[in-house]
Amino acid sequence: MSNELPEIDEKLARWLEAQPVFFVATAPLAADGLVNCSPKGSIGTFAVLGPHRVAYLDLTGSGIETVAHLRENGRVTLMFCAWTDRPDIVRLYGHGSVVLPEDDGFAELLARFGEHPGERCVIVVDVDRVRDSCGYAVPRMELVAERDVLDLANAKKGPERLAAYRAEKNAASLDGLPGL
Ligand SMILES: Cc1cc2nc3c(=O)[nH]c(=O)nc-3n(C[C@H](O)[C@H](O)[C@H](O)COP(=O)(O)O)c2cc1C
Repeated sequence: MSNELPEIDEKLARWLEAQPVFFVATAPLAADGLVNCSPKGSIGTFAVLGPHRVAYLDLTGSGIETVAHLRENGRVTLMFCAWTDRPDIVRLYGHGSVVLPEDDGFAELLARFGEHPGERCVIVVDVDRVRDSCGYAVPRMELVAERDVLDLANAKKGPERLAAYRAEKNAASLDGLPGL
């Protein structure tokens, strides 16, 4: 059972924003390119900006697949699963763009999220299609705690070491597409 939804309404927006983790899928254009799927999340790092627009805060980490793929072709799907209560899976299909700290509008976007050290960009997705599906076999799981390991590691590095880390680790995707 799968339904096309006309837009992200208020109820869906609150549900999406309450999820502790979601998944981001992107792919390069090359027929033999590596398809990527990344977990993202922490409550307060995802925001619905409108019925057809969402954004999430991307923190400094070792991978840069999503940014590189979005810069090449923009195609992206975000997937959310209900871990508690009523079963549900929601996919947001769209085109994403990468907003860097030096870009216009970054500060306004950043204000939508909770405070986390090491922000490297905000991913904004213009949502073309919204679909849900049953989620009947997604297991029910309790959130024990969010992990603070990434925040602690980024806070410990500080701005200069973070910039050096991004220059070393985030310059290119696994396929060699430009990252940051
Ligand atoms: C809840 C959650 C949040 C995450 N947030 C980030 C993040 O903000 N930045 C990052 O580099 N990796 C993050 N990771 C790990 C990434 O999914 C993984 O390292 C990935 O390779 C990096 O993202 P990208 O290659 O899609 O850009 C997170 C993982 C989880 C489970």
